[in-house]
Amino acid sequence: MCGIVGYVGKPPVVQTLLDCLGRLEYRGYDSAGIAVVNDKGIEIRKRVGKIKELVASIKQKPLDGERLGISHSRWATHGEPTEVNAHPHLDCRGELALVHNGIVENYAELKARLLGQGHRFRSQTDTEVIAHLVEEHAKRLPLAEAFRSALKELRGSYALCLIAKRDPTHLYGARAGSPLIVGLGKGEAFLASDVPAVLARTRRVIYLNEQEVVELSTSGVKLTTLNGAPITRKPSTVSWDLSAAQKEGYDHFMLKEIVEQPSAVEQTLCTRLDAAKGQIAFDRRTRTFLSRLTSQEKFVIIACGTAYHAGLVGEYMLEELAHVPVDVDLASEFRYRAPMLDRDTTVIAITQSGETADTLAGVRLAKEQGAKVLAICNVMGSSIPREADAVIYTHAGPEIAVASTKAYTSQLTVLYLLTLSLAKRRGLVTSARLRELLTTLGRLPKLIERALEVEPAIKRIARRYARARDFYYLGRRYNFPSALEGALKLKEICPRIHAEGYAAGEMKHGPISLIRKGWPVVFLATDSAVYEKVVSNIEEVRARKGECLIIASEGDRAIRRHADALITVPKTEELFSPILAAIPLQLLAYHIARLNGCDIDQPPNLAKSVTVE
Ligand code: AGP
Repeated sequence: MCGIVGYVGKPPVVQTLLDCLGRLEYRGYDSAGIAVVNDKGIEIRKRVGKIKELVASIKQKPLDGERLGISHSRWATHGEPTEVNAHPHLDCRGELALVHNGIVENYAELKARLLGQGHRFRSQTDTEVIAHLVEEHAKRLPLAEAFRSALKELRGSYALCLIAKRDPTHLYGARAGSPLIVGLGKGEAFLASDVPAVLARTRRVIYLNEQEVVELSTSGVKLTTLNGAPITRKPSTVSWDLSAAQKEGYDHFMLKEIVEQPSAVEQTLCTRLDAAKGQIAFDRRTRTFLSRLTSQEKFVIIACGTAYHAGLVGEYMLEELAHVPVDVDLASEFRYRAPMLDRDTTVIAITQSGETADTLAGVRLAKEQGAKVLAICNVMGSSIPREADAVIYTHAGPEIAVASTKAYTSQLTVLYLLTLSLAKRRGLVTSARLRELLTTLGRLPKLIERALEVEPAIKRIARRYARARDFYYLGRRYNFPSALEGALKLKEICPRIHAEGYAAGEMKHGPISLIRKGWPVVFLATDSAVYEKVVSNIEEVRARKGECLIIASEGDRAIRRHADALITVPKTEELFSPILAAIPLQLLAYHIARLNGCDIDQPPNLAKSVTVE
């Protein structure tokens, strides 16, 4: 969703703001803008489309800032993506400018009041009311206080950055429900939606908490509550560097992140798994959390999109190996059900970003009802881990492409660790079998590396099917979620294609009626307890002249005669097969999208993290 950058420091301010904003492009947006304070007051420039349009316009008609400015990439919520609606937004006199990520839910009522007080609005956005609201309060109060008073009137979510002509040395920011971090450099400071924006300049960051306000200048940081009470917080040092957030020679972040999966999974495992000793070690907080689980414990997994698919795989493994009853819910539905939660319930929130609005709301609901919350998350310091009782970080490194790849396989890896650790605690697995499973788990990075060798074959298959407009993805048991994930990957990055994932056993209950000659159906037919049933499903599709693209286990010769196109992955236990099947599914989506000329890293209408409902 919207990207925010604020800067106070030294010239060239505009260049700094544009460079930093460019590193947030992955978040998805449809217009961009910038505002700086200079000797003319506040100067502003906005463009619809990509940041490069904004850059071109500044090249044509330069814009100068002395030491202070803000920039924004907007993902439209209120009002179409037009120049007028693009951020920054100004007050009536053009003397203060702000950028916003989030939704002001009570904007209509605030706007009516401000119109009555004589304010003139230019845009259809909810954001513009905040500028006028601060202006109104600033008639009686110093700017910092006016900002806080305005914030107290807002309902909804916000990450905000504000600059004012009357205060050319200070940058103001605040967060409630949308992410905002402070970056501290030498003689300069930043506000940004996410760490990659500032990594080229600093790795020292402060993560803002809910309802905190920050005032930045070149000489320091002042952090307060909404009431102005001072807060002390030491900066943390980000453990990864800029190279992790750059393409490094790959054409797309998505491809880079697919290829990074062996090392991402290695990172997820490395400090936790000792296969030789048959041990899994989580950090102290997680260990304490797990030791509190009762024998009647039930799990409810909540997540969205790809993380939800990881949760579905988790359901199979947790029930089968750890004998825990598990429900998996889309967070957007969970929050509006009346779920039966109690002290014997653990809600597991799975999320790459840690900021997904629905998952966060689900976490809050779970806590209100007395359930325990465990987060599985990739982004350190993000909202969901901070609100959870314990967190297992995936440590996959920054995921920039909108389509989630390495976060998914790292989430699966955490679920393997969790399942096997619970199975051990509950005495449900013999030491010999546990050691066997942990050895395979430890070999996953190598097996993923081998799975990646399918890329040349996938490229050929992608060429053959790139013009198809409908795909089905079918799988059963552990690979039913793989089918959902494969279809999501393709439709997400190649919007010209309609792709659906189903449980293969559901075909006869409806979807098979659509199969016609040449319709590509991707089958997950790796070695499993339901292998023969999947083969029967393949035959049903072939009988209707559908084209079967089969993902099978290495060494499966018998499957060849059923396949129009065959991709093999290393043979492994069924439990671990989704992590290997994910690789050809991701590569297939990537290469088909590429052949269709799609904007792979930033597909239209999608945002990397969905911080509004
Ligand atoms: C995945 O490819 C998608 N971009 C999307 O479905 C994503 O998984 C979903 O929005 C959840 O995000 P989160 O993991 O950051 O909570």
